[in-house]
Amino acid sequence: MKSFKILSVLVASVMLLAACGGGGGGGELKIAILAPLSGPVPTFGEMTRDGALLAIEEWNAKGGVLGMTIVPIVEDSQCTPDPAVNAANKVINQDGVHYIIGEVCSKASIPVSEIANAAKVIQMSPTSTNPSVTVDQNGVTKTYIYRACFIDPFQGLVGAKFAYENLGYRKAFVMVDQANDYVKGLAENFKTAFTDLGGEIVGEASYTANDTDFSSILAQIDEADPDIVYLPDYYNIVNLVTAQAKDKGMNVPFMGGDGWDSADLNLEAAAGGYFTNHYSPDSDAPLAVDFRAAFEAKYGKTPDALAALAYDATNLLLAAIEAAGADDTDKVATALNEISFEAVSGTITFDEQHNPIKAATILKVTTEGVQFETVVNP
Ligand code: PHE
Repeated sequence: MKSFKILSVLVASVMLLAACGGGGGGGELKIAILAPLSGPVPTFGEMTRDGALLAIEEWNAKGGVLGMTIVPIVEDSQCTPDPAVNAANKVINQDGVHYIIGEVCSKASIPVSEIANAAKVIQMSPTSTNPSVTVDQNGVTKTYIYRACFIDPFQGLVGAKFAYENLGYRKAFVMVDQANDYVKGLAENFKTAFTDLGGEIVGEASYTANDTDFSSILAQIDEADPDIVYLPDYYNIVNLVTAQAKDKGMNVPFMGGDGWDSADLNLEAAAGGYFTNHYSPDSDAPLAVDFRAAFEAKYGKTPDALAALAYDATNLLLAAIEAAGADDTDKVATALNEISFEAVSGTITFDEQHNPIKAATILKVTTEGVQFETVVNP
């Protein structure tokens, strides 16, 4: 532990030197980080910012990229389209960035991608899993838009297979917020995969992100008597729904996706549930062990998938800039298309739609914490 603290002090002093003009002398390369620091899911934003800043700090300690000091510009994009679009316009038009890490939430990353792609700015979302982030309505891949995570058709399939094959469930009830691209997409992907396997969707109910009372949906669930409720939303909604189900004395397990990943997930309420994710801090892969140690030394908290993927997305982008040999987004896009990058969350190579093909992790929620269950390969 101690040596990590010394290391981070060293890293901080090197950064300070660099900031004072003592390092490199090759100019600056700005990278914007669009993260939901306020709004409904602040742990997503904090972890994303912290993972990205750790990667930048490590690169600067090694001399930056192509001799340039990397300067992060952090904006609060709130997991919401309008603030995210405003943040994207600000960093592109006022700060003149050529690179964006973010957003976290698909419904914010999709509108940002339109702006970034038109401006030939590379956008690398660490965690937005909806297919429409990198592909337009006509199925054309957006030249400058990439992500560091798998996509929801895979995530939904993994969840459905785990529920059907590993847990032996046959009847699922699905809850969906139709206004959230991520929730809507993942719910559809789960339903298709679960019924293809032979399972039955015994009920479905819609709600909105402003709902606070889920009693009528919970009554429908009671009536339908499913083996599992699929609730692919973010932790704030999951906390409300599972707490109300628990209060009613319901025992049906809930299951979801990466949106459950938060230190603020209510473990008491969600215990017995499962979720698919990109990373587990319990991973014993050497890169994951090193990342966790460096993250804990710097921040004094355990990283989650958002932190790991922001770290991966930033490292991946910087490796591509280095491989391109220039701060030129056309060359960087070409470098990304050809890259094979060893990341904390697995090896990343891009398919034609700029999506990495990666394994998913399944985690189990217990009252003591979130436990690693298994890894599912594509
Ligand atoms: N995949 C989610 C989305 O697309 C975001 C997310 C990723 C949330 C990982 C938590 C953890 O909106």
